[in-house]
Amino acid sequence: MSKAIRKRVAVLISGRGSNLRALLEAKQAGYEVALAISNRPGAGGLEIARAAGVETLVIDHKIYGEDREAFERAMDAALRERDIGIVALAGFMRVLTPYFVRSWQGRLINIHPSLLPKYPGIDTHARALAAGDSMHGCTVHLVTEEVDSGEILGQARLAILPGDTPAILAARLLELEHALYPPCLARLAFSLR
Ligand code: GRF
Repeated sequence: MSKAIRKRVAVLISGRGSNLRALLEAKQAGYEVALAISNRPGAGGLEIARAAGVETLVIDHKIYGEDREAFERAMDAALRERDIGIVALAGFMRVLTPYFVRSWQGRLINIHPSLLPKYPGIDTHARALAAGDSMHGCTVHLVTEEVDSGEILGQARLAILPGDTPAILAARLLELEHALYPPCLARLAFSLR
């Protein structure tokens, strides 16, 4: 893979896209966000990408019904046509099949709102509160076939405070996510050969 290609990043989103914005705005970036793909037509993050002059695509999983691989083949084709080197998941709410994960192995990265291996899956803030944890955090990791369990590339942590609710905790953690994701992505882009 050429140096130019391995720096070309596609960000996959499903919703508001605040992590996409953080990846776009990061100053030290050793990567280029060249494409944003949403599986949901109304995702707020699409507008963020457009405003930054980044190409956007909607690949609506609903069109493919139960055929997850067909949906992923459409994404894979779009990524390869554009010489994408790294795929960064940022609030992308579809579990990827082994087909897609294997084809992008080592070049597929995600941010998850917990201190993995704690709390893979959803409702991480509520689960940390219900468990009485004193600390919470977020993790950037490589994506493997098992959900939220690939190699950890970076973590940021914060204290859980009295009075925290899942929403309050999520909002505070989001700031940390935005600081953590860009340098982790830059390191991955730098390390790929
Ligand atoms: C973030 O909390 C991220 O960790 C999780 O989904 C949320 C996406 O938020 N995977 P946004 O769309 O980046 O604002």
